[in-house]
Formats: sequence, C-alpha cells, structure tokens
Amino acid sequence: MPTPPLGCSKDDLDTPALCLDLDVMDENIRLISAACRAKGVNWRPHVKGHKVGSIGKAEVDAGALGLTCAKLAEAEIMAAAGVKDLLIANIVVGPHKMARLVELRKIADPIVTVDHIDQVLPVSRAFQPTGMSCRVIIEVDIGLGRVGVLPGEPTLQLAQQIRALPGITFAGIMGYEGHLLTIADPVEKQTQIHEALDRLVTTKQMLEANGCACPIVSCAGSGSYQISITHPGITEVQAGGAIFMDVFYREKCGVQGLGNALTLVTTVNSRPAPDRAIIDAGRKSMNIEVDVPQIKGRPDIAIERLSAEHGQLKLQPSAQSLKIGDRLEIIPGYEDLTVALHDQFYAFRSGKLAKIIPIEGRGKLT
Ligand SMILES: Cc1ncc(COP(=O)(O)O)c(C=O)c1O
Repeated sequence: MPTPPLGCSKDDLDTPALCLDLDVMDENIRLISAACRAKGVNWRPHVKGHKVGSIGKAEVDAGALGLTCAKLAEAEIMAAAGVKDLLIANIVVGPHKMARLVELRKIADPIVTVDHIDQVLPVSRAFQPTGMSCRVIIEVDIGLGRVGVLPGEPTLQLAQQIRALPGITFAGIMGYEGHLLTIADPVEKQTQIHEALDRLVTTKQMLEANGCACPIVSCAGSGSYQISITHPGITEVQAGGAIFMDVFYREKCGVQGLGNALTLVTTVNSRPAPDRAIIDAGRKSMNIEVDVPQIKGRPDIAIERLSAEHGQLKLQPSAQSLKIGDRLEIIPGYEDLTVALHDQFYAFRSGKLAKIIPIEGRGKLT
C-alpha cells in the first residue's frame, strides 16, 4: 500500500484506516494524569490498548509513575522506549519467560504478578545467580473471580513466603475491580467499587501490621478510575484505554470528560437498499462484542451487523442520501480489541497527518 504523504487529511487515506487524533489523546493523557495527581494517587497506565513504546513514554513524560503491561512482550517494548518502572499485571510462567525477565531486568525494573508460590520460585531461582532482584506483586481477588489470592490471611501467608526468598523483592498488592465497571447506577457503582477496594486496603493494613511492608496498592482501569482514585489507601491506578476512549467506556462505564481520539475511517462500497449501506470494514477491522461501534456525528446511521469484511449499516430516512464512495468515521466499540487488528495508527494533528505510528506490540502475545 503506498504511504500517504504527511500533511494530508483523513479524506486522502485509503480505507479502512485506524486514525488517532493526537491533540485529543494528549488532552486525555493530561486530564487523567491531573485527576490522579489531584487525589494523590499515582497513574500507571495500562499499555495493552496501544502497545506502542513512544505512547507509553509520552504517558510517563506527562506524569505517569510507570506503565502497566499485559504481556512480557509489551514490557520489552516499553523498556526499549526508555521506561523502567513496568508492572506486568499478568502471571509470567515458563523457562523462556524467566530468561527474558532476567534480560529485561538489565534495562528496566519490572514487577511481576503472582497468586501462588509456584510462580514465584522459578523467578527466585532465575534471579538468585544474577545478583539482581525482581519485584513481585500479589494479585488479590477482590471479586473479579479471575486470578488472585483471597484477601486477608491467604495474601499474608503468600507475602511471608515471598519475603523469605532470595532474588525477589516484595512490592505490594494489586486487585482489579473489572466486574464492577458497567453498574449503571453511579451511586451503586461507587458503593460496590469502594467495598471491593476496602478488601485490598484492609489486606495491605494486615500485611503491614505483620511486618510486611506493602508500598504498592494498585487497582482500577478506565471504566473505574474516576471512582477508584477517591478511595483512601490506593497508591496507583492502571487506567489505560481511556486515552483513546470508546463507546464502551463512555456508555457502559459512564466515563466522563474525555474525548474520542481513536476512529476508523471507512468507505461506503454498496447501497443495496434505501435503508441499507455497506462499508469496507467488518470484524477484521473493528470489534463488536464488547460494545457496538458508532458512526461519528451520525446518530441516524447504526451498525446493524458485521461480517468478516462487510459492515452493514441501517439508515434512517435522513441518512438515505448516502452514496457509494462516501466516507464514514467510526468510534470503536472497544478500543483494545480494535487496535489489535491493525498494523498502524494514522496520527493527526490539527486535521493533518503528522505521522504513521506502527503498532509495535501487534501480534506479540508472549
Ligand atoms: C489487570 C488489569 N488492569 C487494568 C485493566 C484496564 O485496562 P483499561 O484501562 O485499558 O481498560 C485491565 C483490563 O482488562 C486489566 O486486566
């Protein structure tokens, strides 16, 4: 595909094209960073949504303490971009990953997540002969029911086992209130998130009362951080995808005050019926499971169905003048699973193509 010239507009791009408005993204980064700072909570944005070293670095330059990664491969990309304080908020198992973790430690200061001593022992064995130490954080199950040790005594027992091992530094605890993001009633949402985070903070207090220093208490994502930062005792939040925003965060999670930085530009390629149009983007260009994408500025056009490479639109009477060749800009339903389908962002400033950003972490799943 020929590279579009810098300075061109979105209308000049071949489609489908994943576009990033850098002005909006920078403002989202500034707002999230400021909101955390105002509450005395650190911001450790999750990078799984963008997977780009330069964006992770920009988040740190804007005040983030460090970054959160879903995969060791993402941490390697962020370390190569110069970021050192990297939480891998996922469990790292197996000899290949132990070797890579030791290599990563030479250029960064990663924290790995554990919920069982059998994950910690190999880290200790890998680091002991190196003379280096690896930070470890315990994931506490605060209700999500995914991974995690139960709060209280079980977490204390694992922390005490970890602290006795060589080559390991116990860094603290984390929990993710991901099961509470879509509670519609804001008062109920706040109550339930605070109850879940109480379990985390109470566990920290129990550890410290038993002589286990617990410097990090990490939690939250984009769909909850605006509430979670108000909970006393939390030291950091992991909200990441909100720098892009999407339909899920805005409508299902009630995230307020941030702009849509990420859009997918598409072209109408068929008009088989007055109330139906087809665009050149389907499930291989955007995700529909988490929430249905929306057409920017066109409430009279809805995505009705996606097949692999066809997007089927339902047109209200006011939209039926839509023609073959017309372009439509789509706000992703869920940014994370949309970005993972693309090779690059077309990045715009003031409406002009400023750069093409390769999505470095795409396909890097180990
Ligand atoms: C451990 C963890 N933290 C935070 C998040 C939230 O990420 P984001 O803010 O990008 O929605 C997730 C999302 O799945 C997660 O698994």
